Amino acid sequence: MGLIPEDVIGQVIDRTNIVELIGSYIPLKKAGANYKALCPFHNEKTPSFVVTPGKQIFHCFGCHEGGNVLSFVMKHERLDFAEAVRMLAAKAGVVIPETDPGARVKDDLRQMVFKANEVAVEYYHRNLVTGKEPEVGIARDYLKSRTVSLDCVKRFKIGYAYDAWDGLAKELKQKGFSDEVILKSGLVVPRDKGQGFYDRFRGRVIFSIFDYRNRALAFGARALKKDDKAKYINSPESILYTKGRHFYGLNWAKDAITREDAVIIVEGYMDLIRPVEAGIENVVASLGTALTADQVRLIRRYTRNVIMLFDMDTAGQAATLRSLDILLEEDMNVRVAALADDEDPDSFILKDGADAFRDRIKQAHSLFDFKLGRLMAAHNAHTIEGRAMICQEMLPTIDKIPSEVVRDGYVRELAGRLQIPEEAVIKERRRLGNIVQSRPGGGEAKKAYERKELSPEESLLLKLMLVDPKWVAESRVVILPEDLKDDAIRLIVAKVYELFDREKQVGVAALINSFGDDATRSILTRLAQDDVVFNDQKRMFADCVKSIKGTRQKAERQRLRDAMKLAEKAGDWDMVRSLQEQFNTIIKG
Ligand code: CTP
Ligand code: MN
Repeated sequence: MGLIPEDVIGQVIDRTNIVELIGSYIPLKKAGANYKALCPFHNEKTPSFVVTPGKQIFHCFGCHEGGNVLSFVMKHERLDFAEAVRMLAAKAGVVIPETDPGARVKDDLRQMVFKANEVAVEYYHRNLVTGKEPEVGIARDYLKSRTVSLDCVKRFKIGYAYDAWDGLAKELKQKGFSDEVILKSGLVVPRDKGQGFYDRFRGRVIFSIFDYRNRALAFGARALKKDDKAKYINSPESILYTKGRHFYGLNWAKDAITREDAVIIVEGYMDLIRPVEAGIENVVASLGTALTADQVRLIRRYTRNVIMLFDMDTAGQAATLRSLDILLEEDMNVRVAALADDEDPDSFILKDGADAFRDRIKQAHSLFDFKLGRLMAAHNAHTIEGRAMICQEMLPTIDKIPSEVVRDGYVRELAGRLQIPEEAVIKERRRLGNIVQSRPGGGEAKKAYERKELSPEESLLLKLMLVDPKWVAESRVVILPEDLKDDAIRLIVAKVYELFDREKQVGVAALINSFGDDATRSILTRLAQDDVVFNDQKRMFADCVKSIKGTRQKAERQRLRDAMKLAEKAGDWDMVRSLQEQFNTIIKG
């Protein structure tokens, strides 16, 4: 999918009526110049979701989701940006030109590889279900020994790859796929010397990995014998598949995840298949690694509530701990369920049944309890050093929790559990906080903005600019983006100026596309939608400018004073004089 030209995206936004669009998903009620509704993105009883037709944007004052028509369908239909543009373009009758021939070819290639994968899914599945060869019998016996029924095989499209060099390659060639497509699929391996390739998966049970739209992306192949060197062989990364970007089973689980408003994340193929078969359907599998931010964002389209259920071996525990921080950073609510040490969800359900499994999920510990429990087991909490270690490991995780109330509660609880004074923990937290810089972006940043009060004069100035482009023209010449101290507002204002210079107007809906992160978008839609009655815009504008300049000058004066002190100390009188002159100019200005 090539890049869609900016002006085409603009056309799509312009030709889509946000009230009609959102109104086709949820009932909207007119409220003055705006429309209100119960927010479709979080649970609420009184409407805090506002659509502003004048600016073609929406904003929820409860959960802070906000954006334009594209953000809305992305979020609601769970589409990526290009998919959302294409969907609305089709509705609005905007033609998307395929300008970049390279992109076109690549897109065609991707489509062909999807088709080849689809053929492979059917081929492997057919082998397993209808094959008469003895080796197929062995594969079926293997699955039977793991209590995998024929129904289950059909439901999850499980397959079998013959123990042959070109079973699948032949099938794909027969169906007319080019060598390039077959190679790009990763289903075959090129021969070392000379021409050709051979099947990657041989004599194994095949699990197919689909994306959320049920398109086959990649495969995992399970050995039948215990003593096989590689238990699983997987597809390599390809133009369709990047490790750590997808989940096994999301295609089957997505409705249940929405319904339950929670997802259970497990590690392996069978760890997903077993509970889903048993009626616990909101499960996805990460396929044996710690979660990535990409995966968490994918899940966040459906729910914010995650129950981690990784294997109880050391690798699984380490992966759980690493995943937890990523989940917190992406602003998810996390709990951790535990099984016995040598169990995984598959073996647990086989042994103890689905109800016991449901109980474990219900009893899932808070992330805090889980991590603290692990640390208590690893360090000796009876020694000072042990308690210090535990504290140091716990605090960075606690500080990733977006809610201040919850954070403080955990600090208190940590002090209690370690039997040390709360002040000591708070001190330690402050000390660590100075060292550990939180990473920019992600849910943490968004929450930080929500908590933080924006500078009133800077946000009012931006509001004015969004109300009337006249104020952009005026502000443009007296306030530079650098004059603004709020990072987010500075970025937005710089963009506003840029748009204004180009188009002499600033559409909020179009502006939103300039920002990829939720935090900035949320600020933008919140400010643009704030129902402030602007009585005397001229006076307000003048006040803002005065105040912003005043603040900047104060900072500048302080900087010069500090510099002068340093120069005096160093006996650099030329420098002192020059600084003094600058100081005087500012006071006069
Ligand atoms: N995995 C892998 N390659 C391996 C081992 C594991 O890709 N050599 C992935 C698989 O997706 C596997 C998951 O990591 O499902 C979890 O690994 P593990 O717990 O070792 O396997 P199980 O899922 O328990 O496999 P099985 O139940 O089939 O024995
Ligand atoms: Mn297993």
